[in-house]
Amino acid sequence: MARILVLNGPNLNRLGTREPTIYGQRSLEEVVADLESRGEALGHQIEHFQSNAEHALIERLHAAADDGTAFLIFNPASFTHTSVALRDAVLASQLPMIEVHLSNPHARETFRRHSYFSDIALGTISGLGHKVYALALDAAHALLQTRKAN
Ligand code: DQA
Repeated sequence: MARILVLNGPNLNRLGTREPTIYGQRSLEEVVADLESRGEALGHQIEHFQSNAEHALIERLHAAADDGTAFLIFNPASFTHTSVALRDAVLASQLPMIEVHLSNPHARETFRRHSYFSDIALGTISGLGHKVYALALDAAHALLQTRKAN
């Protein structure tokens, strides 16, 4: 049993209504409910936190560093392309992290092509809609199993 933090950045609370042709029809609540049941089936505890505020995301990362969290699945949303502060908070947490994006930032505006997180992530999963979260959870599970075995 591991505690896995799923962290979502700004505007992701508007999933389902926000640009549905890009981000899909599912609400964040539906995505999180699916993750919680998948997590339970895999024997993990899913903690979810979404904020539109950079400082709140940073504070949550600081808490995760000390509360027994074992893994981070992170969609920094627009902060992907702007936030050195959040990058530093991820590094300070020392948590293994998978970066996720519902859309494929490389197929969109050029300013979305740079991520402050990809080079510090174990991997990045993007462009597959809400499925990126479930895929990241499966990958986190596999990685945690491998770590336990070593
Ligand atoms: C996003 C991609 C970002 O470029 C954008 O600012 C978001 C969402 C995604 O999940 O596709 O808010 O992270």
